[in-house]
Amino acid sequence: MLKILCSIRRPSIYLKYFGAISLVIFYFTFLFRESLHAYEINKGGSNLYKEENRPKSIPKRSRLALGRRYPEVNNNPRVITTRTLTTVNPIYEYSEELHSAIENELLARKSHLWDVCIRENIIGIYPPNAWEFFLSPGHNLVWCNVFKAASSTWMYYFNILGGYDIKYLQRTKTSPLELARKRFPRPKSSELIDSLYNSVSFLIVREPFERLLSAYRDKLEGCRNKYYKVLGKQIVRQFRNDSELKRHNTGPTFKEFLLFLIQSYKTSKPFDEHWTPVYKFCTPCSINYTLIAKVETLQRDTDYIIRQAGLEALLLGKLPKSRMRKISNRAAHNTRGLIEKYFSQVDRKTLDEIINIYRLDFELFNYNLTKYYDIVQPIPTTTPAVRTTSSTTPYSSSSSSSIASSTRDVS
Ligand SMILES: *[C@@H]1O[C@H](CO)[C@@H](O)[C@H](O)[C@H]1NC(C)=O
Ligand SMILES: *[C@@H]1O[C@H](CO)[C@@H](O)[C@H](O)[C@H]1NC(C)=O
Ligand SMILES: *[C@@H]1O[C@H](CO)[C@@H](O)[C@H](O)[C@H]1NC(C)=O
Repeated sequence: MLKILCSIRRPSIYLKYFGAISLVIFYFTFLFRESLHAYEINKGGSNLYKEENRPKSIPKRSRLALGRRYPEVNNNPRVITTRTLTTVNPIYEYSEELHSAIENELLARKSHLWDVCIRENIIGIYPPNAWEFFLSPGHNLVWCNVFKAASSTWMYYFNILGGYDIKYLQRTKTSPLELARKRFPRPKSSELIDSLYNSVSFLIVREPFERLLSAYRDKLEGCRNKYYKVLGKQIVRQFRNDSELKRHNTGPTFKEFLLFLIQSYKTSKPFDEHWTPVYKFCTPCSINYTLIAKVETLQRDTDYIIRQAGLEALLLGKLPKSRMRKISNRAAHNTRGLIEKYFSQVDRKTLDEIINIYRLDFELFNYNLTKYYDIVQPIPTTTPAVRTTSSTTPYSSSSSSSIASSTRDVS
């Protein structure tokens, strides 16, 4: 009886023991495997990590800082040099081909710039305006702020780096520049030089006459700001005679604005920061910037800068939608039509003189001037006799037809 009972109870006990023991074994096997795995990774050079877990596109070390392109000016004591870039943050995946295409273009920009600096013999000639820079030593970022060239976009980024809340930035009425200067005070020359060495340094340039026109439309045509209202009145008084002044008592025309610039240039008066030539303002032949971004490729260049500085987590995709729309609009339409509208009021002599002021900006940053000669009014012919025959001369007929066709084409 007992035996029978035992034989019935035994198997269930065995089963219980068996279950418990196998659970324990399973648990220890698991622990062992885990620690083995951790050991493999710690050992470094684990195959597991190498082949499967590595992000697919760790970009190659940046070539922007490699020196082989500028043998003649390498180690020129008059040029302030920036650090060699070695860190590229691989948090976000992006195409390596795209990356190297951008990098090649940025290298070409730099190499072109230094070629022009050498050709024009202006290396180290203009002293840097440290005052105008934004340094964020904590983020290894140095920006020379060219007004009217995407400055509000990067002011926004710097305000984020300065620790302002994004919601606050969108709501506040305080000017972004004022906010930014509270967190990034104007640096001394020595501070600039120190931080240049170890930072990603950049400036953003724009087609010089588009920048000029944008400054005119923003500051003088509308005449909203008190300071520029006064300046506008001065310009009008200087370049409009009394009979004209009686008929049009408005702000300065674009041509009057250009005449004012020409006059200021001839008499060596200081230029407003909104229209100072970039070669004097950010002194790209005296500072070896890590890269030169352009408004025309702003989105792409900006993302590149953010990645080079390793600030993806802080800045990438942080621009509000309205601002993004503004950027793409500005690039797309408007500007070309506006250029034709305003420069067609300008005569050839004025154009030549204004080119004289901004020629270096066109050359250093590789912008093309040709179209302006077609847009402006041709040089007036002096005598009536010449005027009657002028329509048959090849020069004026071709230029007038090209004005007509070019206005049609773009609008
Ligand atoms: C700019 O800096 C890079 C790397 O830091 C260097 O190789 C290059 O020669 C410098 N260019 C000039 C003009 O100093
Ligand atoms: C004023 O300027 C207009 C156009 O530039 C010109 O036609 C006119 O003769 C000028 N008047 C005087 C008094 O100079
Ligand atoms: C500038 O543009 C014109 C056409 O608009 C072109 O014929 C000319 O070759 C360009 N110049 C340079 C230096 O690229």
